[in-house]
Amino acid sequence: MISDKIREALNGQINMEFNASYIYLGMSTWCERHAFKGSALWLRMQSSEEQAHGMKLHHFLLARDCDVELNQIGKPPACYESLLDVFEKAYEHEQRVSESIDAIYKLAFDEKAFAALVELQWFLTEQVSEEQVCREIVKQLRMVKDDPSAVLDLDRELSTRATAA
Ligand SMILES: [Fe+2]
Ligand SMILES: [Fe+2]
Repeated sequence: MISDKIREALNGQINMEFNASYIYLGMSTWCERHAFKGSALWLRMQSSEEQAHGMKLHHFLLARDCDVELNQIGKPPACYESLLDVFEKAYEHEQRVSESIDAIYKLAFDEKAFAALVELQWFLTEQVSEEQVCREIVKQLRMVKDDPSAVLDLDRELSTRATAA
């Protein structure tokens, strides 16, 4: 059985994933409004992925005979300074998610909650790639700085990455 402490932590993580989904949708909206169609598509797909992450934990808690409390999701930011700003914020957010997963993993580890550990392992691996992908986009955007044609090239590349995924 899962302890109340772990159930609460996983429940909080569900909220964080749905929150991330909403943040990405807000970023996608900003990109669409600023004609960054490739980034908008990429971020929309990212938003769906975060929703799937939330559902994965939702399913897990139910499978372990636990209650799930669906909490309020905050209003996501609507304004960004630039495409670089969008991806810097996305990267920062992914780092916060990683920290949260790490903390829950430690909790499950200390309590020897083996089933939860296995479930969380998937999230640990996922966060490694989420951080890497965002970090690389940030690096590329920093490289091209304010060169509009290079930024648009990168934006186009993001649309192909999104459709290839
Ligand atoms: Fe996630
Ligand atoms: Fe993520």
